[in-house]
Amino acid sequence: MAQIPQDTINHVRDTANIVDIVSEVVELKKRGGNYFGLCPFHNEKTPSFSVAPAKQIYHCFGCGAGGNAITFLMEYERIPFPEAVQTIGQRYGIQVDFTQDDKSRDIYSKLYELHEVTTQLYQDNLFSPRGEKALAYLKSRGFSEDIIKQFKLGLAIDTWNQLSKHTNAENISTDIILKTGLFSRTDKGTFDRFRSRIMVPIFNRSGKVIAFGGRIFEDDDPAKYKNSPETPLYKKSGIFYGAHATRDSIRKDGSAIIVEGYFDFLQLYQAGITNVVAVSGTALTENHARNLKKLSNKAILFYDADNAGGKAAIKSGFVLLKSGIESTVVSPPQGKDPDDWVLEAGKETVQKAIKNGQPFLDFHFSFYKAEKLKGVDRSDYVKELLQEITNITDGIIQDDLLRTVGDRLHIRDKDLEKYMRQAQRRPSHFRDEPPTREKRIFSFSSVDQRAQLELIRLLASDDPNHRQLVKTHISSDDFIEPILKKLATKLMGKAMIIDHSALAESFSDKDERDIVTEILIQEEIHGTPEQIVKDCLNILKSKPIKEKIQALRLLIREKEASDGNVEDEIKKVIELQNTLNELSN
Ligand code: CTP
Ligand code: MN
Repeated sequence: MAQIPQDTINHVRDTANIVDIVSEVVELKKRGGNYFGLCPFHNEKTPSFSVAPAKQIYHCFGCGAGGNAITFLMEYERIPFPEAVQTIGQRYGIQVDFTQDDKSRDIYSKLYELHEVTTQLYQDNLFSPRGEKALAYLKSRGFSEDIIKQFKLGLAIDTWNQLSKHTNAENISTDIILKTGLFSRTDKGTFDRFRSRIMVPIFNRSGKVIAFGGRIFEDDDPAKYKNSPETPLYKKSGIFYGAHATRDSIRKDGSAIIVEGYFDFLQLYQAGITNVVAVSGTALTENHARNLKKLSNKAILFYDADNAGGKAAIKSGFVLLKSGIESTVVSPPQGKDPDDWVLEAGKETVQKAIKNGQPFLDFHFSFYKAEKLKGVDRSDYVKELLQEITNITDGIIQDDLLRTVGDRLHIRDKDLEKYMRQAQRRPSHFRDEPPTREKRIFSFSSVDQRAQLELIRLLASDDPNHRQLVKTHISSDDFIEPILKKLATKLMGKAMIIDHSALAESFSDKDERDIVTEILIQEEIHGTPEQIVKDCLNILKSKPIKEKIQALRLLIREKEASDGNVEDEIKKVIELQNTLNELSN
């Protein structure tokens, strides 16, 4: 199943323009032949994300991410390769069909299929006699059968192997079984992960089930929720529960209501407040913010009315601001969550409250009683707040926030500026981790690594004469660094024209692809090609010889210490020295 013919993939790749694809989510400015913008894969203030239209590849000089249009979409949307090809195909009006081939049935479709079958089984359970109590529980919480069916709520009954038997899991490879996150496998057999829980399916953008949240409903299991682990289908950071059903409503309304729980979501949706999503279980991340930004640039944080809810709202508000989304905060009456409140007070009351949410900073001030703080407390508060504001990249939003802080807390401009300067020097605890990548080409710093890089640049050059020059003098065996050897081998096999985009894509390992793209996007060659080939060849060929000499010298020293005969070794060293000398002439 699920295999796209190579011809179609090639056609999609050749048709797609990476500038279009990236522009949808990154604001690009042209500089020289390339485009630059703020990298969507890490947090930065000055653009280091570059797109090369001529080569149809991108590379971030900050975090090292790189690839072509298809891999960009895969990483940005966190979708598998075939889905990225399909999405791009749709955009350019190319029909992307999957060939039927049972043998190459890819793991993703198997995982989707297992989730589909599981969802159906759980739904059947809920509406069977065995589901009576669970269904009654859901109804007691005010949910109609319609909403239960629309969002495919279900029940995992109290057994160890209902799902396992139903899906014939024993006959599925361990690799796939473990990747579903629905089972555990021991030498005693394959067992269901979820038991005795109301099951909430989590959907991807296109409405396919990719994971589950399981809530207890009768006993006092201390773990209220048990959720699917991260799997190839389910990358928790960035997924909004319910978004598949509410994105249009959010777009139309121009704002998204963000709640914490599945049940908050379902209750609001059922009440007819449909521009809503739930973060469910994880903190709101930059990925969430990026995904939301595609739908609207306003959010309403509608969290529980307790202290934890307030803190979570504040953290989320700053994450959203960093992505250019402004928010207001709405709190249910003390001790309640949105779910209870809408059930009790009804749609109109809640909707009115949502319209009259507190602007984020106002909420911040009142949550921390900022206007009443004095002395050290006040100064600490202001410093922490400004620290957050320094992390906001949009200059206009930042200025507005600063002005509000100054006005409301009566801080003079001069003092604000001073505070801001101090804040910029201190790293914030909320600042994102700087990207850590040892796998960058600047880590190729030894002389022989540099030589290999220079040769690769010639091999990847647009000038066929340069490439020919390398090919006649050097073979891929001369490359030592594994990734460079791999790239060199591919480049040497290429005909007249190098398709940089296809080449980058052919490295399916992300770390490898990042390095390869970094190499491919650079153009400059240091010196004349003839000289480069000569020097590099010299370095690469002499390296193993030097190593041999070194080893022999050690051996000689050891042998001499025990009065051994070293004549042979000395002869070999001399031979090797001669070879070295010849190389450099
Ligand atoms: N959550 C979780 N694990 C827990 C508690 C909560 O994963 N042990 C996640 C769930 O996604 C939940 C969300 O955090 O939906 C919000 O938690 P909470 O408000 O406690 O749960 P509700 O879904 O509102 O459940 P209920 O109203 O039924 O108590
Ligand atoms: Mn709740």
